[in-house]
Amino acid sequence: MSGNGWPTVGVAGARGVVGGMFCSILADAGLPADCLRPFGHREGSTLAYRGTTLPVEILDDARAAELDVLFLAVDGPQSREIMAGAGASAALVVDNSSAFRLADDVPLVVPEANAHAARGRTGNLIANPNCTTAAVVVPLVAIRDAAGLASVDLASYQAVSGAGRKGLDAFAAERGTDHRERAAESPFHGRIADSVVPQIDVLDETGWTGEEKKIHAEIRKILELPELDVAATTVRVPVHTGHSAALHIRTERETSVDELEAALRAAPGLEYRPADGSERHPMPLDVEGRDPVLVGRLRAIPGRDRGFALWVSSDNLRKGAALNAIQCAAAADPDRFGKLLPPPR
Ligand SMILES: NC(=O)c1ccc[n+]([C@@H]2O[C@H](COP(=O)([O-])OP(=O)(O)OC[C@H]3O[C@@H](n4cnc5c(N)ncnc54)[C@H](OP(=O)(O)O)[C@@H]3O)[C@@H](O)[C@H]2O)c1
Repeated sequence: MSGNGWPTVGVAGARGVVGGMFCSILADAGLPADCLRPFGHREGSTLAYRGTTLPVEILDDARAAELDVLFLAVDGPQSREIMAGAGASAALVVDNSSAFRLADDVPLVVPEANAHAARGRTGNLIANPNCTTAAVVVPLVAIRDAAGLASVDLASYQAVSGAGRKGLDAFAAERGTDHRERAAESPFHGRIADSVVPQIDVLDETGWTGEEKKIHAEIRKILELPELDVAATTVRVPVHTGHSAALHIRTERETSVDELEAALRAAPGLEYRPADGSERHPMPLDVEGRDPVLVGRLRAIPGRDRGFALWVSSDNLRKGAALNAIQCAAAADPDRFGKLLPPPR
């Protein structure tokens, strides 16, 4: 810890979309500029932070050893490379990539569901889940605790910022062009402006995508239900920020909409919107820049025993990435990292 009581915080990939959100949240929390160490892979670049300009450094062993916590906002291969080298010297690392999420000795954490896994970690690494997983487990854990969970089917509606800088650039390039033109460079499997793209990540030989398999395995791991019946179809939509999902679930025990609504209203990290339309249903523009996962449209599925439907929206860059990672550090060591939590938004 530095002399001013703040931890020294490193952000690898600080100039990326998620890295930028880390810096913005840490600034809101009041982290002084001399406690933030931004890292990137190019010498000479800089980062604006709370009225100052910070140099973006290359991460090495000596710099990592000076950090109380290191947030990784880089892709999977880069996270693996960092953890095979300098990352081992950092006191605590929270990784946003998919590289270590399913490793047995690495906790995969959404604090509303399994903060105990962050506290009980055996190494210096905590994994942050996929942005859709992080959002949907917040209501799912409340439902699991109220009535048990037998199955979860979901279709996601994922924003372009979920694909990082390249995704935002491709969306910007396509908007306003002829509705059949594609951006010259795009991470998407088809034009995204004026369209929806029902493939995120690579397809395997059975027809499932990497994103769908991540959600399947990560929900099971975080909810500590290794046999849970989960199926996801993931879809990219022409939305800047804010992932949504339609969930169809089955509970284990008999329950009612009223009981589930009461459980959701009492759940942490969640804002419940009534299904009767008396308040606006959760939408991406309502969650962008906000912390809670918004949940609405809860209803019983006619003719399906213990079947319920609900709708979830959340900011993929905050709860889906940077905010959840900071909450993981705070859950792991509240005395050291609790100060990094921003005022609620
Ligand atoms: N976007 C989301 O909603 C979201 C949500 C959850 C998780 N994630 C995960 O978060 C990670 C970052 O995603 P993103 O959307 O922020 O991607 P991004 O916008 O493409 O940013 C990636 C960043 O990594 C930097 N970088 C590349 N190599 C590096 C290295 N060796 N050391 C340090 N920095 C390096 C890049 O630097 P330059 O700018 O210099 O190229 C860039 O700033 C990914 O693993 C992604 O899967 C993203």
